[in-house]
Amino acid sequence: TRQYTIDVIAGDGIGQEVMPAALRCVDALADAHGFTVRWRERDWGSDHYRAHGRMMPADGIAQLASGDGVLLGAVGAPDIPDDVTLWGLLIPIRREFHQYVNLRPIRILPGVTSPLRGLDELDLVVVRENIEGEYSEVGGRLYRGRPEEMAVQESVFTRAGVTRIARYAAELAQQRSGRLVSATKSNGIIHTMPFWDEVVEATVAEYPGVTVEKVLIDALAARMVLKPRSVDVVVASNLFGDILSDLAAGAAGSIGVAPSANLNPEKTHPSMFEPVHGSAPDIAGQGIANPVGTMWAAAMMLDHLGEEEAARHLESAFEQAMAGGTLTGDLGGTASTEEFTRAVLARCATAP
Ligand code: NAD
Ligand code: IPM
Ligand code: MN
Repeated sequence: TRQYTIDVIAGDGIGQEVMPAALRCVDALADAHGFTVRWRERDWGSDHYRAHGRMMPADGIAQLASGDGVLLGAVGAPDIPDDVTLWGLLIPIRREFHQYVNLRPIRILPGVTSPLRGLDELDLVVVRENIEGEYSEVGGRLYRGRPEEMAVQESVFTRAGVTRIARYAAELAQQRSGRLVSATKSNGIIHTMPFWDEVVEATVAEYPGVTVEKVLIDALAARMVLKPRSVDVVVASNLFGDILSDLAAGAAGSIGVAPSANLNPEKTHPSMFEPVHGSAPDIAGQGIANPVGTMWAAAMMLDHLGEEEAARHLESAFEQAMAGGTLTGDLGGTASTEEFTRAVLARCATAP
């Protein structure tokens, strides 16, 4: 049988609640689909930071490098500055493993009513550039204690970086509707964005059957609320893609259902799969978090490993549980994380 080694970082807050739910589902499916998963559970995150002064061991990246993928719950704790938790774990993994694509599909799942009037179907994908752009490490500095006190950070867009994300998005659009929307802000103020447009347009021109429409990010935000079905595949810079993916998840009912795949498409390094949401300190410890984002992320991991049948099975298992009316509180239901997970597990044991 095929065997995979997956590093599991449940992390902080509700990460500790949604991760076991997803692992149980994958375990329940593995046998029937002819593979086994060896989970390497890592106690990394904010507790590790409080005990050792680091979010993960100094050789953490090297430890992960020998695995077939990483599943991450969330990082972030109210008593530790976010720059410490994020630069100590999440961001280095994305960068060291060249996970330059952040793929964020979203759909209105069965049993869910969109908060947007009259919207009963939504199926779009945000292709987010994941390691450069506004999240650059260049020039980031806070100049304190002087009259001209200020914070600065430079955005970095490389031709290679924009080209590869545009290629990925164009290939995806080619398999879907052929319609690609590029999120931009090139109306003269943000100096990097005309370059983004130029490189995206030149790249997409090589893909027959794919059209690219550049839309200014402010207007695009409104359009995704007013006419979300006019958008199919969106290619966006790091920050714009971050914001649009939560917006799209909100339109689909909850950020608790949205998955995120941090992909190294060339498979030279492991990829990482996580829900879009964070550690949700406001509901952590109550057993009410929605585990669908993490389950869907686990399904994307199975796809990436080549276990497409198991991935479809897992997706249909949580969809059927939701269609049957079992929903967590964020979606207006009353199910706990455990109750919802049992409803999914019941559908993992039977043929999809
Ligand atoms: P958040 O995503 O944690 O929560 C936003 C809101 O959505 C909260 O009201 C929360 O209760 C709700 N929510 C989120 N996930 C849910 C789920 N699965 N089920 C039900 N409700 C859910 O965002 P935030 O509050 O802005 O950030 C909290 C912390 O998480 C911060 O430290 C932030 O830096 C961190 N964060 C981490 C990641 C990550 O690890 N990838 C992502 C986003 C935020
Ligand atoms: C996400 C998160 C992160 C991001 C934060 C926590 C740095 O919001 O994965 O969407 O902006 O990439
Ligand atoms: Mn985000």
